[in-house]
Amino acid sequence: MTTTTVPPRPQVTSPEFVEDPHKYYRIMRDHYPVLRDEASGYYFVSRFEDVARVYKDSEAFSNENYGFQMEPVIGRTVIQMSGREHTINRKLITPALRGNYLEELFPEVDQIARDMVAQFPESGTVDLIEDFTKWFPINVIVKMLDLPKDGLPKFHDWYSSLMAFLANLTNDPEIHEWGMRTQRDYPAYILPIIAERRANPGDDLISRLTQVEIEGEVMSDERIKALIGLLLIAGGETTDKAIASTIKHLMENPDQLEAVRNDRSLVQAAIVENLRYHPPVQIILRTATADVEVSGEVIPAGSVVGVVNGAANRDERRFADPDKFDIFRTDISTQNAFLGSADHIAFALGRHFCIGSLLAKREAETAINLVLDRFPTLEYADGFEPKDVGLFTRGPDKLVVKL
Ligand code: HEM
Repeated sequence: MTTTTVPPRPQVTSPEFVEDPHKYYRIMRDHYPVLRDEASGYYFVSRFEDVARVYKDSEAFSNENYGFQMEPVIGRTVIQMSGREHTINRKLITPALRGNYLEELFPEVDQIARDMVAQFPESGTVDLIEDFTKWFPINVIVKMLDLPKDGLPKFHDWYSSLMAFLANLTNDPEIHEWGMRTQRDYPAYILPIIAERRANPGDDLISRLTQVEIEGEVMSDERIKALIGLLLIAGGETTDKAIASTIKHLMENPDQLEAVRNDRSLVQAAIVENLRYHPPVQIILRTATADVEVSGEVIPAGSVVGVVNGAANRDERRFADPDKFDIFRTDISTQNAFLGSADHIAFALGRHFCIGSLLAKREAETAINLVLDRFPTLEYADGFEPKDVGLFTRGPDKLVVKL
């Protein structure tokens, strides 16, 4: 008789888990496809099919959790809305992120990246994160909103505080206080700017938002404030981590790095494979609106559900050899990867599918091409080893390379 030992139930908030989440994701998929975490009381779902279902079934799994994850810091935004309200509010930002304005922004995106890379020193070392990827996406949003550049460190602090706030599974009081500081400081900064644009509109996104009408009503300053806050958060750290992780994984696979260097049409495949292999947003929350069965377990109504993108994208039930970073894999569509029909789960799925995915794609393509051009051999500084950090969002904290 053979006996199979079932590994112990992983603890999502434990230091071991954060050190090596993929080890525990596998245990979750195989043995605890719905894992109730003791510390938070949340139910974590890890198989590809289940995660996709949670995202697509917005009746059974709502976004109302953003009411406690985000609203206290920046206000109510499209990300927590549903039904008609969501449709209308999403339409407001569609031209900027999916339509004509986006095409107009692309040359500026490229120029921002070129200027940043041109500032690298001639020799020595450079941290591709601190000196480039951390600030590049915020620079782009700042350009889109036409905000003063001296606000950059503040924006970074604000979105970092919000990211920490929304992932505060253990209710750390310091993180709560950091979020509350942002709640005070961010409106004090942005509301006068919105008022000024309303009075003297230009052609930036803030001005455009002051002029649009929703069902005969203009958007209030409060609404615009919240939406801009969301853009800063949603478009900053996510894209930073997507670019940095792609570079890291190419460096770990020198043959693939060489292939991409020699055939730049492969840059997109590398970005897509990285989104699968290591999505910047590893976990997203939802709320069960009724008792609902997932993989044989009942999740009670009102429970918070953690959908684990990072685990779903390595599900061997869906992808061949999922722990292998392989830009040539054939079980993922590179063409659809930035659209609602994507077959990886890095931008979510369903109604809230990331509206900034096309901007993120352009930013990542531009950044990676520039890095390949600037570094004919891409090598870490002597003694440097990259390390991934984070639970909800995850990526390397530094990438120190030789010039
Ligand atoms: C690689 C980079 C990015 C990743 C991995 C990413 C990931 C995501 C994910 C997972 C969601 C779904 C959230 C949910 O359903 O709860 C989302 C939504 C969203 N993202 Fe992104 N994002 C990225 C880049 C961007 C950029 C550049 C912007 C804009 C500047 C942006 C703006 C948004 C907005 C506004 C939403 C809410 C859409 C809605 O609720 O309908 N994202 N993103």
